[in-house]
Amino acid sequence: MNERLGKIVLHVEGLSKVYGEGPTRLEALKPTTFDAVAGEVVAILGPSGSGKSTLLTIIGLINPPTTGSLMINGDDVIKNGQEVVNLTTVRRQQLGYVFQRSNLIPFLNGEENVRLALEIDGVPARESRDRARALLDSLGMGGRMKAMPSKLSGGEQQRVAIARAMIHQPSIVLADEPTAALDSSRGRQVMELFRDSAHANGAAVLVVTHDHRTLDLVDRVLEMEDGVLAEKGHTANTRQ
Ligand SMILES: Nc1ncnc2c1ncn2[C@@H]1O[C@H](COP(=O)(O)OP(=O)(O)O)[C@@H](O)[C@H]1O
Ligand SMILES: [Mg+2]
Repeated sequence: MNERLGKIVLHVEGLSKVYGEGPTRLEALKPTTFDAVAGEVVAILGPSGSGKSTLLTIIGLINPPTTGSLMINGDDVIKNGQEVVNLTTVRRQQLGYVFQRSNLIPFLNGEENVRLALEIDGVPARESRDRARALLDSLGMGGRMKAMPSKLSGGEQQRVAIARAMIHQPSIVLADEPTAALDSSRGRQVMELFRDSAHANGAAVLVVTHDHRTLDLVDRVLEMEDGVLAEKGHTANTRQ
């Protein structure tokens, strides 16, 4: 068991985003308030253009909100639309990202892609190697971690990308349509990995998905429509 489980790791309050002004003004995200707790996987559904990526990139601290506040582990990160800490540090230490395509560095093998994230933070080589190998092994990549990304299937690449996003044990993992390029069984495997690693590492995972068939694997479903985020109710997940 991870001691972080169940603690509020993300609190957003009144977060909104307006793009453009005048006739091109668009309120892509209406003021939004919600929490996420350690160990849970939250699915975010909604039609194209409804504001899902906007929400994820704001929480990911790569897109400044127009209004609102964001706390991670109880610490203010953005307060009333203003950053109050060094966002680069928070991004590196507290956040992990998985995109639709894995975006692995093509000239590094799987293990090296995962280690790089640690070594940038000064983790010694031996430790980074051991941690990367253990995590890749737990993600079913034990025999494939020396393969270059171009030799991996889409599903294998996403496993490496998940390992890279989780190796530094972030509080929050943000995944924007990570299964969109995968067939349904590989998509399901990826969602299972999110669930298992969220639980093991005590991260909150926010995952944008269109695949309703994997919603049995998540803890909570939120739905976005025209910039409004709403709880869709708890799913029938019966995690032990
Ligand atoms: N950088 C931007 N500048 C202007 N409009 C944007 C920008 N990014 C997204 N939008 C608009 O905001 C709305 C929400 O987009 P997005 O968050 O990408 O939705 P989703 O991920 O649900 O498809 C869309 O109408 C989109 O065209
Ligand atoms: Mg999107």
